Amino acid sequence: MADAQTMLRVTGLTVELDRRRESAPLVTDVSFTIRHGEMVGMVGESGSGKSLTASAVAGMLPRGVRLTGGAVEIGGDASGPATGRAAPRHGVAMVFQNPMTSLNPSMRVGDQVAEAIRLRRPGTSRREARREAVELLDRVEITRPAERARQYPFEFSGGMRQRVMIAIAVAGEPSVLVADEPTTALDVTVQRGVMDLLDRLRRDLGLAVLLVSHDLALVGERCDRLLVMYAGELVESGATADVLRRPAHPYVRALKQCTPEHALAAGSLRPLPGRVPQAGEVRSGCRFAPRCALRTKECDREHPVLEVRAAGRLVRCHHADRRGSEG
Ligand SMILES: Nc1ncnc2c1ncn2[C@@H]1O[C@H](COP(=O)(O)OP(=O)(O)OP(=O)(O)O)[C@@H](O)[C@H]1O
Ligand SMILES: [Mg+2]
Repeated sequence: MADAQTMLRVTGLTVELDRRRESAPLVTDVSFTIRHGEMVGMVGESGSGKSLTASAVAGMLPRGVRLTGGAVEIGGDASGPATGRAAPRHGVAMVFQNPMTSLNPSMRVGDQVAEAIRLRRPGTSRREARREAVELLDRVEITRPAERARQYPFEFSGGMRQRVMIAIAVAGEPSVLVADEPTTALDVTVQRGVMDLLDRLRRDLGLAVLLVSHDLALVGERCDRLLVMYAGELVESGATADVLRRPAHPYVRALKQCTPEHALAAGSLRPLPGRVPQAGEVRSGCRFAPRCALRTKECDREHPVLEVRAAGRLVRCHHADRRGSEG
């Protein structure tokens, strides 16, 4: 990779339904990079393609969809096949919203972490892996880790389970961590603890983190940069403070206005009027035009490209220049 600090480079990522006849993409031509130790937030309404992008990056797309274009480079290696369902990628770990569905309910927690360690380093003895598992549980701030390692997932609270999932993710010694709504299912106070942990790990280990969230306040507080998705494509990206203070795209402006106190303090995204287009509904012009106050003929005719509007700032809108600098 050109920049030695770039840990993740995603170029032209496109995901489509895995059906021969339908070809409307669910994720279209998504490109971004994440640097060593950087946390980048991906936001957008439900159905905008956040999870598909995240799982495509991790090489863990669900059934029913496939990667039809683009490349994912991790730490300089273009890994995995260019298209298809793809296998989990070396160097990327993923943490999901619901830790209970990802943990094996009938296996001791410590053994699950130890298994991840042995997967990473097959030569490791069981005994050594168990010892390291306890260390990892300690690292994710689980108290009395040796005792806890012998327990089962049902004996753990939601927040503790998510810490275990993070331990399992880190056991693979990844350079990139993809976290899809990692704290959405947790209480606010527990959320904070888990986010603090992710923050600390990315600093200590230099992890490049992609944090998927629908919570503007959360990403506003935690992320260096933001990627805003609409109907399967990026519509705006830039430094978090810039994007949230002076959103340039009408969609991002609307999202901000839909949250209490213009959203920096307290909110998740309340629905905007209208809805995200579903698969197959994608129109030829701007995908946001039907819901946009600035809509003109040009918006219906021409699909706007993602353009550089300022240093580090990308916006996909025919009218962003006109309205972009207002708060
Ligand atoms: N396995 C699948 N098969 C078919 N369509 C899918 C599949 N997974 C997602 N989709 C569709 O792809 C689009 C994007 O879904 P995705 O899960 O990425 O959205 P999201 O932004 O993560 O939303 P949410 O905030 O609700 O999690 C949606 O229209 C969804 O219905
Ligand atoms: Mg999702």
